[in-house]
Amino acid sequence: MGTNAMKTSSDIESPVLEVIKCRRSRRAYSSRPIEAEKIKSLFEAARWAPSSMNDQPWTYIYATKEQPELWSKLFDSLNESNKVWATNAPILVLSMVRTHFTVNGQPNSSARYDLGGANAFLVLQATELGLNIHQMGGFDHQKAIVNLNVPDGYELGVMMAIGYHGNPETLSENLQQREVAPRQRYVQQEFVMNTTF
Ligand SMILES: Cc1cc2nc3c(=O)[nH]c(=O)nc-3n(C[C@H](O)[C@H](O)[C@H](O)COP(=O)(O)O)c2cc1C
Repeated sequence: MGTNAMKTSSDIESPVLEVIKCRRSRRAYSSRPIEAEKIKSLFEAARWAPSSMNDQPWTYIYATKEQPELWSKLFDSLNESNKVWATNAPILVLSMVRTHFTVNGQPNSSARYDLGGANAFLVLQATELGLNIHQMGGFDHQKAIVNLNVPDGYELGVMMAIGYHGNPETLSENLQQREVAPRQRYVQQEFVMNTTF
């Protein structure tokens, strides 16, 4: 990672919240179902995210493995490369937005930005609850729209696999390595400025 010699590091160089420190997008899932109250807490966290004009444009469809029909409708739209591991996720979620403000019907150019914020809240809440969330952009939007009857006026965001972390040995060799490899990030100097460009 790091083009044009942009500097990266795996170290956390300044103190951050514990959930930021320990969150990572894992692929090995335990079959242990997620408690109903925890599912509610995830969406409660999203609920309290900030949004432009407080429009709260985010919308979620989730399915647990105990709802095989709905779960399969979500799963079906995933790319093959995600299906191989997401098949064990006890919950799948599709995140999407209303593209127009509820209050005045005008296009909401912040909708996707707001969804990203809500999803970030959701992900950190999941981490606090001991859950893993893996976001996925790799899915067929058109298939998801058809499978889930998504009406006009919505745009799809990411899908998410959620569950307790499982045994990495259930994964292929390649994915096992990615599960434990140190994560890399650009160092702050590459993206934070305290001056003009
Ligand atoms: C918008 C978005 C789309 C992503 N799509 C996929 C995906 O389709 N498949 C996948 O395995 N991971 C996907 N990821 C996970 C990223 O690869 C992961 O967040 C990144 O490598 C950083 O790793 P970390 O989350 O463990 O810190 C996606 C993440 C985001 C935010």
